[in-house]
Amino acid sequence: MLKVINVVGARPNFMKVAPVVEAMRRRAREFAPLVVHTGQHYDARMSEAFFRDLALPEPDAYLGIGSGSHAEQTAAVMQRFEPIVLAEKPDWVLVVGDVNSTLACALVCAKLGVRVAHIEAGLRSRDRTMPEEINRLVTDQLSDLLLTPSPDADENLLAENIPRERIRFVGNVMIDSLYAQLERANRSQIREGLGVKGTDYAVVTLHRPSNVDDSAPLERILSALERISERLPVIFPAHPRTRRRLEEFNLMERVAALAPRLRLIEPLGYLDFLRLFSGAKLVLTDSGGIQEETTALSIPCLTLRENTERPITITHGTNHLVGTNTATITAVAFDALDHPRESLPPLWDGQAADRILNALLEKQE
Ligand code: UD1
Repeated sequence: MLKVINVVGARPNFMKVAPVVEAMRRRAREFAPLVVHTGQHYDARMSEAFFRDLALPEPDAYLGIGSGSHAEQTAAVMQRFEPIVLAEKPDWVLVVGDVNSTLACALVCAKLGVRVAHIEAGLRSRDRTMPEEINRLVTDQLSDLLLTPSPDADENLLAENIPRERIRFVGNVMIDSLYAQLERANRSQIREGLGVKGTDYAVVTLHRPSNVDDSAPLERILSALERISERLPVIFPAHPRTRRRLEEFNLMERVAALAPRLRLIEPLGYLDFLRLFSGAKLVLTDSGGIQEETTALSIPCLTLRENTERPITITHGTNHLVGTNTATITAVAFDALDHPRESLPPLWDGQAADRILNALLEKQE
């Protein structure tokens, strides 16, 4: 029986850990799972809603670290996570993705000599100004088992001299959640509530510091949304950081003037967001996960960044990398609307969680 601490910290972690914990509970003779929530995200709409929607069990421990600088957040997680690892003595700690909590917990384990497995290992944007890229690089160096979502990730790790025996290509576990929840999401009334009809609307999400912490890119993106909203209505569930910046840069009036063609709304829970974007004709985002979720459902996606750590969504999916130039975003948006495409990366089949569990068992022997 393997005792495994599953770490979650921020919104994009919840949908990756839920299927793993669910599989561990189903395979209760082989696994004893614990869930530790660092509290990096703490708003009800950024956290609690996801536990409910994904049927994640109440965390066994909540570290309550909250917001702060990167150093503050990372250090706070380390200080509060260490005693838990010492007390629980797990066989494995499972960390996911690339948020500050991921790195902090991997570092604690590496120092204590506790084995750590990284889900979504090997992704690289090659942009070290992104905090997530630093988190990915260091977490992968420290992890004993690297569970990759796509073959490009294996190649990245091998190129960094990580031994092949530490790497396992298991596919994309976030897609397990997506497929598992699609039917439940159909019961959400979000489309009706927003008054969007059929599939004739676009959805946008934005939260990257490089896009929202400076007014210039944010204004360029807003101009593109303005033009796109002339063709189809745009729904914009805003991350708390983004809403704050729009207020700070006095852009709220401009956003309000675009209503009802552009509608800024509160962040949505997992099921409502799934219901909303799964019906959209176009998604614009700077998120990592949404590039993958749109690919899995064959929905055209524009990524408002200069690079992506998920190139497979471009080569084997529906994603287009467009940056933040107004004219480029608009042109590619209209082209993607007129010429949708469809294909699926290997092992994005809803079965990744069991492959992850098998990899842990094999590595244990
Ligand atoms: C974090 C992750 C990012 C991920 C994103 C998803 C890191 C380095 N970044 O970025 O990879 O894509 O989560 O959302 O870990 N805030 C709230 N309520 C919350 C959480 C945050 O109001 O529940 C506000 C706070 O003002 C906070 C700011 O958002 O200062 C940023 O939060 P933080 O966790 O530092 O980073 P994110 O931008 O959310």
